[in-house]
Amino acid sequence: MPGLVVIGAQWGDEGKGKIVDLLTEHADVVVRFQGGNNAGHTLVVGGKKIILHLIPSGILHRNKICVIGNGVVIDPKVCVEEIEAVKKRGFLRSDRQLMISDRAHVIFPYHRIIDQLREASKGEAKIGTTGRGIGPAYEDKAARRGIRMGEIIDPPLLRKRLKDILPERNRYITAILGGQALPEGEIFSAYAAWGRKLKKYVCDGSEFLQNAVEKGRRILFEGAQGTSLDLDYGTYPFVTSSNTVGASSCVGSGVGPRAVTDLWGVSKAYSTRVGAGPFPTELFDGLGESLREKGGEYGSTTGRPRRCGWLDLVVLRHAVKINGLTGLVVTKLDVLSGLKSIKVCTGYRLRGGLLKTLPSRVEDLADCRPVYEELPGWTEDISGIRMLKRLPPRVKGYLKFVEKHLKCPVVLVSAGPDREQHILLKKPF
Ligand code: GDP
Ligand code: IMO
Ligand code: MG
Repeated sequence: MPGLVVIGAQWGDEGKGKIVDLLTEHADVVVRFQGGNNAGHTLVVGGKKIILHLIPSGILHRNKICVIGNGVVIDPKVCVEEIEAVKKRGFLRSDRQLMISDRAHVIFPYHRIIDQLREASKGEAKIGTTGRGIGPAYEDKAARRGIRMGEIIDPPLLRKRLKDILPERNRYITAILGGQALPEGEIFSAYAAWGRKLKKYVCDGSEFLQNAVEKGRRILFEGAQGTSLDLDYGTYPFVTSSNTVGASSCVGSGVGPRAVTDLWGVSKAYSTRVGAGPFPTELFDGLGESLREKGGEYGSTTGRPRRCGWLDLVVLRHAVKINGLTGLVVTKLDVLSGLKSIKVCTGYRLRGGLLKTLPSRVEDLADCRPVYEELPGWTEDISGIRMLKRLPPRVKGYLKFVEKHLKCPVVLVSAGPDREQHILLKKPF
C-alpha cells in the first residue's frame, strides 16, 4: 500500500502542481488534503497551461481518481467553475473521476468578507492573505460552527445551519468590522444551487481512500502552500490557517499514518514568498527582479509579484525534519542559468550567535542575517536536459551541495515548466 506525499518545502509555489501532475502517471489516486483556493497549482502540458485551485493536479490523466479530502476548505462557486473549465479543456470526461469529501468545510461569503475587512483594518501589519476566506473558514471549523459539503447538498439542512450561524457572523461583521450584514436568503439560494451541481461528486472520501489503501493502490497526496506557511511550524503569524506539513496528509484525507510510505518536499532552486512576513534571504536589488522576471514569479492565484531571494538551507533543513522528508524535489533550476555565482544560505547570524535552526518567534527571524556560501554559476541552457549525466558539472555540484547540507537525497529535478522537462532520479512508488 504505497503512499507518496508531495508537499511544499518553502513558502508555497514551489511547483507542486507540475510535480504532482507528472507523478500521477505512476499513481492510481491523487488526493488534496488541506488548503483551499488560496492555492494555485500550475500544470503545463505540451505548452498548454492550466491553473488548478481545488481539483487535484492529477486530473489531466484519464482513469486516475482525484479526491478533494476532508481537510480542504471549499468555495463551491470556485469548485463548480473549475470543474466546468477542466471539462471544457477535454478533461474529467467521467464524473466518477472526481470525489469531494462530505466532511470538507465550505467557504461562505462571510468568510471572504471577514478575511478582507480584517486585512484592510490591519494596514501595514496585514498578513497579505489571498482574501479568499481561508482563515475564517478554518476558524469556524475549529469553533464548531462550520458548514460542510455533506450539508450544502441537503437544502433543509443548509437552511437550518445558516439560520443557526449567520446572525452571529453578521453581528461580528457589522459591530466589530464595520461591514454590511449579509442576506440569508441570497446565500441560501446560491449555495443550494452550487450544492445541486456538486452533489454527484460528494461522498465519503475517507472510506474510498481506506479501501484503496487496503487494495494496495498507489496514492499520491498533494499538499498546498508550503512548510514555512504551516500553522504550527511556519513563520507564525505570517502563515496560512491549515497544517501544510506531511503529517496533515492523513488527517486531511482520512487514512492512517501507515498509508504513507514516502514524503517528498518540493523546493525551488532559489526562494520566493508572496504576502508579508520575514524572509531572511530576500533580494531587494536587480538580481531579485531578474529572478522574478526570468522565473515568472507572479502569484498563480492573485497575480501579486512574488518576493525573490537565494536558497535558504535553514528553511529547508526545517522542512526535512518537520515533514520527515525522504526525498527532495528541486524545481526551476533553469532559472539560475547565466548567473556568475550563486549564493546559498547555510545559517543565520542572530545577535552575535550562529543559528542553524529556524527560530519560533517571528521577531527573531526578522533579525536573522543570512550566512552565505558562494557556489560557481553556469551558463548553459539546461531546460532541454532529461538525463542527470547531461547536466553541467556545476549544476550537479549545486545539487550535491544541497543534498549534503540537508542529508536528504534529490529525487527529482525540474528545469522548465512543461511536464516533460524533468529528470526523475528515484521511482516514486
Ligand atoms: P505550486 O503552487 O507549488 O503548484 O506552484 P505554482 O504553480 O504556483 O508556481 C510555480 C510556477 O513555476 C508555475 O508557473 C510553473 O509553471 C512554473 N514551473 C514549475 N517548475 C518549473 C521549472 O522547473 N522551471 C520553470 N522555469 N518554471 C517552472
Ligand atoms: P500554493 O498551494 C504561496 C500565503 C498568502 C499569505 C498567507 C496567508 O499555490 O503554493 P491565506 O489566504 O492562506 O490566509 O494567506 O499564505 N499563501 C500562499 N503563498 N502559495 C500558496 O499556495 C499560498 N496560499 C496562501 O500569500 O501570505
Ligand atoms: Mg501556487
